[in-house]
Amino acid sequence: MSQLIDRFGRKHDYLRISVTDRCNLRCVYCMPPEGVKFMPHSELLTYEDIEKVVKVAAKLGIRKLRITGGEPLVRKDLEVLIAKLSRIEGIKDIALTTNAIFLAQKAQALKDAGLTRVNISLDSLRPDRFKEITRGGQLEKVLDGIDAAFRVGFQPIKINTVLMRGFNDDEIGDFLRMTIDQPVQVRFIEYMPIGHADDNWKNGYLSLNFVQEKAKELGFELEESEGVFGNGPSENFRIKGAKGSIGFIHPVSDHFCSNCNRLRLTSDGNIKPCLYWEDELNVKPYLNDEEGLKQIFYRALAIKPENHEMAKVLHDEKQTNTPTMRRMSQIGG
Ligand code: GTP
Ligand code: 5AD
Ligand code: SF4
Repeated sequence: MSQLIDRFGRKHDYLRISVTDRCNLRCVYCMPPEGVKFMPHSELLTYEDIEKVVKVAAKLGIRKLRITGGEPLVRKDLEVLIAKLSRIEGIKDIALTTNAIFLAQKAQALKDAGLTRVNISLDSLRPDRFKEITRGGQLEKVLDGIDAAFRVGFQPIKINTVLMRGFNDDEIGDFLRMTIDQPVQVRFIEYMPIGHADDNWKNGYLSLNFVQEKAKELGFELEESEGVFGNGPSENFRIKGAKGSIGFIHPVSDHFCSNCNRLRLTSDGNIKPCLYWEDELNVKPYLNDEEGLKQIFYRALAIKPENHEMAKVLHDEKQTNTPTMRRMSQIGG
């Protein structure tokens, strides 16, 4: 076997790499108010370690990388890693998922190093509310980050908006309108119960049918849209005549696992075959052993489950927890 094809026939060409579990925000759906205990720096893979893993992954057919966190831009000199990864044969796309607080100051260096595009997390367009959801973040900085992303030429620019009942469900119209004049893709994401052992999630979760209904109610006609770059889990639409587009990511109400093409590398060096389950395999003993690293990838594929069970957590009274012990900030989404 040389390609990463699992027992359900899914071909894996996408590796999501978390470079830190630290974040400069503490979003209500991601962290408890007191924050989470961060990993010691000594646990993190170095940029050289990550490069070694990706060199082997590329030989096995990984073509697309996504750098995540925590917040990846809090890791020092991220552009140094991007430059290393962009030189690896076979890698065609290196994207970043960021909260954009530091993007204005980093955009040019990242672009020069070979980053191809950015997905920006943004859950409210109202400064006070943004501050509340992120527990202290300044919306202004994110908007500056988006401007910088345009200025340096990242394309496409995607906005990730996690839909939450009682937090931002009254801003759907504003997010939809954003796509009319700006060539961005706004993607609504269903709130997932990853790492949540409580009722927060059940109270906050809303199916994306709500957005479809709201769009209709507001008189927006959405047509299916082709050609948005990236092979993530989003279904794409467009308001007739708009410059940008709209995406729907519904991992809970209608999961997309049958097309799953991704593996994850955590900042402490674990290959995580699925976001939802706890199984992980550590690469650290094999960093200087190409064959050993290949075997870790194959073993990760061999234990990758067919799908997750998030809907069960929603509908089953007895089930309040998800199997993964990691929080979203420790996996990178
Ligand atoms: P593109 O390549 O631009 O399409 O990016 P992406 O959607 O793959 O990545 P991004 O980091 O922007 O993730 C968007 C949302 O999709 C986040 O909430 C992720 O947690 C979620 N997501 C991404 N991959 C998976 C997955 O494999 N399973 C589940 N359940 N959710 C995922
Ligand atoms: N459910 C859905 N999306 C989430 N994200 C973080 N936590 C959750 C969650 N519980 C999103 C972030 C970011 C992306 C990587 O994952 O907003 O855009
Ligand atoms: Fe893939 Fe697991 Fe996500 Fe499903 S939940 S799409 S199997 S990573």
